[in-house]
Amino acid sequence: MMEMPADVRSLIQEGADLTDQALEALIPSADTVPASIHSAMRHSVFAGGKRLRPVLAMQAGFAIAGFMPRGIERLGAALEMLHTYSLIHDDLPALDNDDLRRGKPTCHKVFGEAIAILTGDALQTRAFEVLAGLDCPPAAAVQIISLIANAVGTVEGMIGGQVLDLESEHLKPTPELVAAIHRAKTGALIRVSVVAGGVYAGATADDVARLDRFGRKAGLAFQIVDDVLDMTVDSEHLGKTAGKDQATEKATWPAVYGIEQSVRDAAQLVEEAFAALDPYGSRAFGLKAIARYMIERKN
Ligand code: IPE
Ligand code: IPE
Ligand code: MG
Ligand code: MG
Ligand code: MG
Repeated sequence: MMEMPADVRSLIQEGADLTDQALEALIPSADTVPASIHSAMRHSVFAGGKRLRPVLAMQAGFAIAGFMPRGIERLGAALEMLHTYSLIHDDLPALDNDDLRRGKPTCHKVFGEAIAILTGDALQTRAFEVLAGLDCPPAAAVQIISLIANAVGTVEGMIGGQVLDLESEHLKPTPELVAAIHRAKTGALIRVSVVAGGVYAGATADDVARLDRFGRKAGLAFQIVDDVLDMTVDSEHLGKTAGKDQATEKATWPAVYGIEQSVRDAAQLVEEAFAALDPYGSRAFGLKAIARYMIERKN
């Protein structure tokens, strides 16, 4: 398993704990009527995700403000709800048709397809409700909502990337196609997590541009590693079905470049991403540490 310095491990763990506490408070209890959907939301959200998007948002906030802005964990919780919604829908039979997620049976396996679809919808609407109530200046909240809605949308956003991903199955992938899929389906939400954390902390337009550059490269590296792990780690350690991408002829980075080149590309992208953070000096320690973890992780 991965070894990382204790301070990085605790930085991620503390951010994940704060996120979990916020999610606990923000998602209706499992016995709230209708109980089935609230149980399903909790099943998927508390199945054991790494909480990397919330932690990125928190560390971006730290890089800008020099401290962790109060209430930023609720921004993190909203990002995690959107991410979890994307996973629930990604696993549906009509999309990737997966039985295992975060080491547990997928939402539709436990609650049925209809409730799983509605659970994704519910996490998405709840996320925007939470964003509308963020404890930051109203102009920043509106900017955050707009940026996030765009990043999960159809034009170079998560949904658009999922469409490209599905429509590219069984095609011979080109470098341009895979880059477009990866930047959109996964990169966009990671990029906006970093940017939104910065905006929450009062980022200027220059800060936003720098965080965007960092998040774009780190986000692409993240999905390249996801593709590599699908081919190199077993289902038990991955917490999701291994070897799916080749079986379904997905347009992946290794399908174009091979595994070794993919590993090198991810490392190179993260190295390039760091350059955007130079002006923040040691305040960007957390962001850099998480980006490094994103390419060294084993699940
Ligand atoms: C998995 O994301 C899905 C992709 C976007 C590639 P993560 O690897 O962050 O999954 P969790 O949240 O830890 O389960
Ligand atoms: C999913 O990409 C990206 C999302 C928007 C959820 P994958 O289909 O590769 O994610 P995994 O491997 O199932 O987690
Ligand atoms: Mg998919
Ligand atoms: Mg999938
Ligand atoms: Mg994958």
